[in-house]
Amino acid sequence: MGEKLRHAIVFGASGLIGWAVVDQLLRLYPEAGTFSKITAVTNRKVKISESHWLEPRTDRLSLQLISDIDLRRGDGATLAESLRRAVADIHTVTQVFYLAFTSVPDSVEEVATNRHMLQNVIDAHNLLSPNLQFVAFPGGTRGYGIYSLGGVFTPPLTEDMVNNLPPDYAETVAYPAYRELLKTASEGRKWTWCEVCPDAIIGFTPNGSQFSLALHWAQYLSLYAHNHGVRPSSQQAGKASIEVPFPGNVAGANSLFSPVSATKVARFMIYASLHPNECGDGQLFNIADHEMPCTYGDIWPRLANWFGLVGVGPPEDSQGQINSLKVGELPEGERHLTPGEYISKHRDIFTQRGREKAVNSGAAES
Ligand SMILES: NC(=O)c1ccc[n+]([C@@H]2O[C@H](COP(=O)([O-])OP(=O)(O)OC[C@H]3O[C@@H](n4cnc5c(N)ncnc54)[C@H](OP(=O)(O)O)[C@@H]3O)[C@@H](O)[C@H]2O)c1
Repeated sequence: MGEKLRHAIVFGASGLIGWAVVDQLLRLYPEAGTFSKITAVTNRKVKISESHWLEPRTDRLSLQLISDIDLRRGDGATLAESLRRAVADIHTVTQVFYLAFTSVPDSVEEVATNRHMLQNVIDAHNLLSPNLQFVAFPGGTRGYGIYSLGGVFTPPLTEDMVNNLPPDYAETVAYPAYRELLKTASEGRKWTWCEVCPDAIIGFTPNGSQFSLALHWAQYLSLYAHNHGVRPSSQQAGKASIEVPFPGNVAGANSLFSPVSATKVARFMIYASLHPNECGDGQLFNIADHEMPCTYGDIWPRLANWFGLVGVGPPEDSQGQINSLKVGELPEGERHLTPGEYISKHRDIFTQRGREKAVNSGAAES
């Protein structure tokens, strides 16, 4: 990686994937000297002291954190002006990592809003960044039709399937709109682009996330443990005695999914951005931690044990049994509460216990 002076800009840097991209760049992935500048852009304010990012390790790498950039505002020229004022050496940007996403209740409106945000970013960089080489963004399994009851395709989901998404479903997902936008915007330019497709992402954010399954389970299981008298000092492997039933039915527990760590997604996006010939031209790459998918039935006992609890199967009124797990029972008053409802009912406990940052995980609302 001899070429120096690469400047990465990360939009959505406080999100699950965006945080990990900045983290990996600061850890000098793939090797020292690959990048010399990182610009992290956020919408809500994040203090560097609360970001949990490493300090740049060498004086040949600098990090700028720019907050209060709402990508919905104005157009590309407006954004270009804001970035020109806020970011030192914006003209040297070589890699754009686009990880911003905003949830909107109406799906078609959500596509329009998110398309507008990406358009602003691309138009701004086409104005500002003559050395731009690569744009990387994440799609997701929603782009394979999983929001449609029963799904659209028969797994395994392969990259070519996205071209056969039914049109009425495709217009409810942002990713086809992103592809069309990037294909048009990159024509005749020096930069190219790719899409990376994760299923459920497991990672960290400094101030919550719209889509964090890990945060959702952490909220539910930590509140459940607290309410059943399990205290952090007793949250040690081998000492657990309080049971927590899987909060779903057997079909849910046996459904296959393919989690991926935000670190792995981040590393692949960085790698792709450095290999435009192999990874560019609008290619789509599925990504997962393991080749074989897993089920919640498999991981529930380990997940529960992390919080000092014993993970057991769904309550008896669900049909069947998960693997060899004992059938669980929920205490009176907690039956029929989904984890999201349980969190809503008890979330004040976080504030009372000085954990006011245990905020929204998005998944908790569904
Ligand atoms: N999480 C998953 O399991 C998962 C799985 C597959 C695919 N994906 C896809 O990955 C992409 C990123 O998701 P994520 O999980 O990283 O989401 P996330 O944790 O909620 O992060 C989204 C980021 O976008 C920023 N953002 C939201 N509205 C913005 C606005 N108006 N202007 C500027 N920035 C804005 C957020 O900043 P603020 O919070 O400050 O607004 C945050 O940094 C999405 O396309 C999502 O569908 C996610």
